[in-house]
Amino acid sequence: MTPFHFLHLTDPHIAPPDELLFGQDTNARFAAAVAAIAAEAATTPFAFAILSGDLARDGEPDAYRELARMLEALPCPTHLMLGNHDDRAAFAAAFPDTPLDVNGFCQQAFETPAGRCILLDTLTPGAPHGTLCAVRLGWLADRLAEGDGPVLLFLHHPPMPIGIPGMDAIRLLDGAALLSVLEPHRARIRHMFHGHTHRALAGSWRGIPTSSLRGTAFEVKFAAGQPAIERAAPIEYAIVRCEAESIGVHLAAAAPLA
Ligand SMILES: [Fe+2]
Repeated sequence: MTPFHFLHLTDPHIAPPDELLFGQDTNARFAAAVAAIAAEAATTPFAFAILSGDLARDGEPDAYRELARMLEALPCPTHLMLGNHDDRAAFAAAFPDTPLDVNGFCQQAFETPAGRCILLDTLTPGAPHGTLCAVRLGWLADRLAEGDGPVLLFLHHPPMPIGIPGMDAIRLLDGAALLSVLEPHRARIRHMFHGHTHRALAGSWRGIPTSSLRGTAFEVKFAAGQPAIERAAPIEYAIVRCEAESIGVHLAAAAPLA
C-alpha cells in the first residue's frame, strides 16, 4: 500500500469564546495546533483527522459552535468523538452531520488503506468514567464481523490503568467486556488510539498496541494521588503514518500563537 497519513488530536476542551479552563486559554492552544497542521499539510497531505473526545470544556453549546468554527481551518475531513466532558445533545446540535450509530451513539466505522477505523463512544452521561454498554459492544461486534481485514480502534477512555490513581478510577470500566468482544479478532487489531489521560503515552493492552497524547489543552502530571494539571505542557498532536507492515505515531508540538 502507498503510505498515508492521518492526524490524531485529543482533549481540546474548547471553552465558550473568551473563557478559560484552569486559567488556560484552551481555545488558543487548539487554534495553534490547527495552524501548525495547516502549515505542515503543504508538504504532508493528511487523509483525515480524528478528535478522540473531550471536545468541549463542559458540553457547552457555545463551545461546540466555537470548535466548528475553528475546524474550518483544518485542511482535511474531521471525525469527532465524545469524551466525559461532552454532552450528546449539545454536540449533535452543533455537528448535525456527524454519523451516529443506529442506537444514537456517536460511533462509526469507515475504511482506510490501513484498515477499518472503528470509533467508539465511551461517554457515561453525568459521570467521568467510561462505559461501553451491551448495546455499544453489540454494535462493535457487528462491525468486526463484517470483514476480516485489519482494524484501527479509537476510544476516549482507555481500558487499562496508567498508574495515576485519580485517572485510573475514571478509565473505561468495561475493559473485560470489551476484551471479550475483541478476543476473536485480536490479531486484526493493529492499534488502539485513546485520549482521556492527557499524557504522551504508548504501550499495549493485552497485546494490542496503544497510544495517547497530552492533547492540546493541558497535561496531567505523572504523580500519585489525584490528577495534577501541567499548564505549560506542549500543545501536542500526532501524525500517524501507516504503511503496509507498520504504523508510526509521530508526536508533534505546535508553537503557541503570538
Ligand atoms: Fe480530557
